[in-house]
Amino acid sequence: MSRDAVPPPVRLGDYRPPDWLVDTVHLDVRLHPSAARIVARLTMRPNPAGRAGSPIVLDGDELSLKAITLDGVPLAGTAYVVTPTALTLLAPPQRPLTLEIETVVNPSANTKLMGLYRSSGTYCTQCEAEGFRRITYFPDRPDVLAVYTTRIEAEREEAPVLLGNGNPVESGAVEGTSRHYAVWHDPWPKPCYLFALVGGRLDRITEDFVTATGKKVALGIYVEPGKTERAGYAMDALKRSMRWDEEVFGCEYDLDVFNIVAVADFNMGAMENKGLNIFNDKYVLASPQTATDADYANIEAIIAHEYFHNWTGNRITCRDWFQLCLKEGLTVFRDQEFSADARSRPVKRISDVRLLKGHQFPEDAGPLAHPVRPDSYREINNFYTATVYEKGAEVVRMLKTLLGEEGFRAGMDLYLDRHDGDAATVEDFLTCFADANGVDLTQFALWYAQSGTPQVTVSGSWDAAARSYRLDVVQTLPPTPGQSEKQPMLIPLAVGLVGPDGQDLPLTLDDGSNAERGVLLVTQPRQSFVFRDIAQRPVPSLNRGFSAPVKLSSDMSTADLLFLARHDSDPFNRFDAAQTIALGHLVEATAAARAGADLPAPDALVAALGATLDDGTLDPAFVAQALSIPSETDVAREIGEDVDPDAIHFARTTLRQAVSAALAPALEAAYIRHAPSGAYSPEAASAGQRALRNTCLDLLAAGGTAESLARAQAHFETADNMTDRFFALSLLAHAAPQAREAALAAFHERFRDDPLVVDKWMALQAQIAEPQALERVRGLTHHAAFAWSNPNRVRALIGSFAGLNPTQFHRIDGAGHELVADAVIDIDGRNPQLAARLLAAFKSWRSLEPVRRASAEAALRRVADKPGLSPDVTDIVGRSLG
Ligand code: PHE
Ligand code: ZN
Repeated sequence: MSRDAVPPPVRLGDYRPPDWLVDTVHLDVRLHPSAARIVARLTMRPNPAGRAGSPIVLDGDELSLKAITLDGVPLAGTAYVVTPTALTLLAPPQRPLTLEIETVVNPSANTKLMGLYRSSGTYCTQCEAEGFRRITYFPDRPDVLAVYTTRIEAEREEAPVLLGNGNPVESGAVEGTSRHYAVWHDPWPKPCYLFALVGGRLDRITEDFVTATGKKVALGIYVEPGKTERAGYAMDALKRSMRWDEEVFGCEYDLDVFNIVAVADFNMGAMENKGLNIFNDKYVLASPQTATDADYANIEAIIAHEYFHNWTGNRITCRDWFQLCLKEGLTVFRDQEFSADARSRPVKRISDVRLLKGHQFPEDAGPLAHPVRPDSYREINNFYTATVYEKGAEVVRMLKTLLGEEGFRAGMDLYLDRHDGDAATVEDFLTCFADANGVDLTQFALWYAQSGTPQVTVSGSWDAAARSYRLDVVQTLPPTPGQSEKQPMLIPLAVGLVGPDGQDLPLTLDDGSNAERGVLLVTQPRQSFVFRDIAQRPVPSLNRGFSAPVKLSSDMSTADLLFLARHDSDPFNRFDAAQTIALGHLVEATAAARAGADLPAPDALVAALGATLDDGTLDPAFVAQALSIPSETDVAREIGEDVDPDAIHFARTTLRQAVSAALAPALEAAYIRHAPSGAYSPEAASAGQRALRNTCLDLLAAGGTAESLARAQAHFETADNMTDRFFALSLLAHAAPQAREAALAAFHERFRDDPLVVDKWMALQAQIAEPQALERVRGLTHHAAFAWSNPNRVRALIGSFAGLNPTQFHRIDGAGHELVADAVIDIDGRNPQLAARLLAAFKSWRSLEPVRRASAEAALRRVADKPGLSPDVTDIVGRSLG
């Protein structure tokens, strides 16, 4: 292979079972800052389902091999071959055997944060997707399941806490030394990506949990010394998750202990290692003074997510990485349901859909589009995406919509029973739902295979004479990379027909059948549904609860949308109707701004928002969502091509001013009405009050009056919690340049020793929509608190600039694109995963207007031309330009 030859992609169609299986793994890990020594004893046997007579091929990456024996006898140098990526035993005896392999790795030099590394001195591991091969030679694939026993040894002084997977077996001093050890045993066979160990100087909090069948589980959360008081909310969320999974899915915990460790350097949110979850500390640590309501909600969701993986991911794992959505989509669906039960269901749905539209829809519409289950990849790390996670969860949700509550539960029960202990596939999963319900899910399965967001166009007509109402539905699926032809999808379209009094009319189809649970099954490219006994013209409420992840367009009038915004019994569509009005307005206003014409008056939107604000029966958290003006990114997505971010920014700013002016008295009244009573509590009801109050504060300040800015300043100064304090700070930073620097300085002074809070401070500055933002970001990279090696710092500063500051990232002079490209090139040498994620911020570059599009393309080409790029960045840049 020449120096620049790219290895061929991995293809789903090429899957073959492993030739060798591993039954047990005994690891002896001696921790050391620069030379950790790992002795792995593997009992292996030929796989009857594999190719007979095969060599043993073990993956490896950046390992130093010290010794290897087969059944206790050192292997001759001619018996095996070592390359940078593998250790191959050329002609092993074709019978059960034991291999013992000794490797040495350097945890302190591991800046990729994959394998065994150190975070603030703590030893920890990250093995998903392919990190175990950076610890020892191993068949690093999820369909090789083994029982692990791990002995961890370290200097007691350096690492008094030693944690592994499964249950603790024994621990003690290493005679005559300053070292100690602990042995852990995990009785449940698992793939190596679920392996973990931790060694460090950590504090902990503990609690007991008694499972449904009365087994006691010792729970522990380990954090940096001095931070235990910030772990309480995570512990509470963990216990609630454990109970919920028993009650809702019948899933009981299966070990004597469950530990969580928070580390400061982590590539992702958290990791579901068996019995030993390792978390980015951002998703564990919270106190009213340091965490916002959104932080608390994220902690609750991610603690639940990782815990739920114990069944959906660990007890049933994935056959290969193409099946990633099998565990991730399903587990996101489960954590969404948990949060919906713990908080307000409609508000949770609204925020999940906003996330989906904000992150997944653009992915589906750009060069990085891929199916929920991809069929080829060059770098699996690049497929931990919004499509696999969030769209994957939508697909599971649609299954529930199609089958109903009971049918869905029957399918889940069958899946958990039939595949316990398996490395399963999406087909296995769907077959359980088909079998349990006696249905054919062949067409439904296209949701896993076809990429792109379906476009559904609906028009309605009422026939007064026939007393009937007809919906004509057309579906199309645009071409996406690698998929030019598409088949029609099965789209569960939940609908309602709302009568003039706001009541839902009965949905009887012309064949006399009822649209079951209000769901129309759209299966054809064009299809019509006729409802009978409709005596008055109704307003159709379409895709209720966002029942299908589609882009819906209809011929609905603004008056009808206004009606829905006020009267729809489906809270999601009430929200969505106002959003549709706002988006329509902003698209029109953006076009006017570009043409130098006067901007239209937002009368309909003001009417909708005013009505929502005045409706005292609504949940404050819902009102806060309903009052939020679509983001600049939302508008860009809606426009779709030839996007000018400055015009969008101008249109949106102007709209906010108009809404502010029109609704000031009502906003002020709501701001006062929702003043806090009592001490801060993170629970949903009081978070909702704060959300509404802060939304009002923000809209008022959008007017720019001295009075509204003084109110924001007072809000900042009197806040007794991070939610209010940080919200007011953002407001001042964005809307009050004259108050900005003093407020930023005061905030920094107060929280300078708290890295997670300093991240917020940096992220905020990176989002200011002014040309100076670029220099500010550059300057902050030299700030004492910034570190290129820490993913949270990089995401806070550079990630926020690229993802949340469209006018400055897409500056017309190209300087924003250059800054991010430079950062990507720089970071790639240290942490390819982080670099690749940052680069994915360019995913919508083709939809920009020509000048900005050219500068984005130039930046991407500059990255592509850099010699020595990682496979991660090579893959993203290649597909982005492809
Ligand atoms: N599996 C982790 C999750 O729950 C995500 C992750 C992937 C973490 C890869 C680290 C590395 O969703
Ligand atoms: Zn997950």
